[in-house]
Parts: sequence; C-alpha cells; structure tokens
Amino acid sequence: MILQPLKLKGFFVFLLLLVFVSTGVESGAGGVVTGDLYESKCANCHGVGGKGTAMGPPHIDSKFLRNASDEEVFKVVKYGRRASEKQYKKIALPMPPWRDRLTDEEISALVEYMKALNK
Ligand code: HEC
Repeated sequence: MILQPLKLKGFFVFLLLLVFVSTGVESGAGGVVTGDLYESKCANCHGVGGKGTAMGPPHIDSKFLRNASDEEVFKVVKYGRRASEKQYKKIALPMPPWRDRLTDEEISALVEYMKALNK
C-alpha cells in the first residue's frame, strides 16, 4: 500500500523520459540544436515545426521532401529557388539562398531534419 504512490511517481518519470527520447529521435542527427536553427532561420516563412505560412510552403506532409534526394533539397537551401524557378506561384517571394549565412554542415543537418519530418 505504501509503495503505491512511489510506483506512480516512477511511472511519470518513465513517461517523461519517453517524451524526451522520442523528441530526440524525431529531430534527427542534429537533434535539438538543428531544431533551434530551423525555428530561428526557417520558421518565419515555413512555420513553427514546418507547418507552413503564407510566405513559405509546409515542410510536413511535403511531396518534395519525400521524393527529392538529399542533394536536391540541399541545393534548394544553399542556392535558394529563383523567381523564375518558383514552384509555388501563390507565394509572392522566392526561397532565399543560405550559402552566405549557413555552413554546408548546418545545411546538411537541416536537410536531415526536414527529411525526418516526412518519414
Ligand atoms: C523569406 C522566406 C523564407 C525563408 C526565411 C526560408 N524559406 Fe524556404 N522557401 C521559401 C519559399 C517562398 C519557397 C518556395 C519557392 C517556390 O515557389 O518554389 C521555399 C522553398 C523551400 C524548400 C523547397 C520546398 C518545396 O516543397 O519545394 C525547402 C527545402 C526550403 N525552402 C528550406 C528552407 C530552409 C531549411 C530554411 C531555413 C534555413 C528556409 N527554407 C527559409 C521561403 C523561405
């Protein structure tokens, strides 16, 4: 009887750990750090958690991210998508290039992060 509340506490600790572990896996190799990078540089247009906004297409449930190779996605982020190559005609502005603002390693980690959102 006395053990009952203790067991309950253990269960909550276990649940909490489970939440931490599962969010870690979801955010891919870059983990929480990449998530922060995404939220600070990309979410303005692509939405919190990649939900999309009027300024950028969503990165969840994304046909492009599911089908394109890592290299293709990498190129869109590094070099942007120019106005003439734009695929989302309803969005006024193109995708800006990030080559001067992010390292290749950071871009690769972001590619993995976005791919993981679509697995
Ligand atoms: C100023 C707004 C803006 C910011 C900031 C921005 N993007 Fe974009 N992004 C866009 C727009 C607009 C498009 C769609 C361009 C088009 O019509 O093809 C796009 C397209 C993309 C695509 C291709 C998606 C698809 O479905 O074709 C990827 C991948 C992407 N962005 C990644 C990123 C990443 C990673 C960051 C942060 C480093 C970022 N974007 C920051 C506006 C933005």
